[in-house]
Amino acid sequence: MGKAESQRAGNGSIGDEITMNTFSVYQIIVVNGPNLRFVGQRDTKVYGDGKIVDIPDILYKNNKNLSSRINLDFFQANGEGEIIDRLEKAWQSGISGMVINPGAYTHTSLALADCLGWIAVPFVEVHLSNVWSRNKIRHQSLTAVHSIGIIAGFGIMSYVYGLQALVDFLDKSSNTREDK
Ligand code: DQA
Repeated sequence: MGKAESQRAGNGSIGDEITMNTFSVYQIIVVNGPNLRFVGQRDTKVYGDGKIVDIPDILYKNNKNLSSRINLDFFQANGEGEIIDRLEKAWQSGISGMVINPGAYTHTSLALADCLGWIAVPFVEVHLSNVWSRNKIRHQSLTAVHSIGIIAGFGIMSYVYGLQALVDFLDKSSNTREDK
């Protein structure tokens, strides 16, 4: 994890206000599970017409400070094993955090949940749709128990809010670590 520093300092005379903010540059991956490659085209009445590729632009437009604070990577796979392989790789690389939409594996995949549990990388679970306003099988998430929180129901903005929440969480936990 890289470190960047911003500093506002006076000329050193007594009474000058000195503000020093140390902040981190986070490596973050956005992971999408099955049937999410064509978000923006798939069932737009349920999932909206926002596209995954637009996330960085929307994110940086909504929060200009974030562009210098995060390195974003994107991954999508339809297979459970491929997703788990990518998560293990992310863990091995020492990634800072993840935003994950596990798609239907949310409700069914103990294997994916086990992976998220043991790698213990902080992640926000996101859903385009409000899964609790849909059929009952979608009310259960096997994966969310390992998340720092869930955002659902805002279309592509769920990812944007998820990224903002993740960065806030990472900032707070690194400040807590530095305070000790
Ligand atoms: C979804 C909700 C899941 O129930 C569904 O299987 C998906 C998309 C969402 O983003 O709303 O594929 O994760």
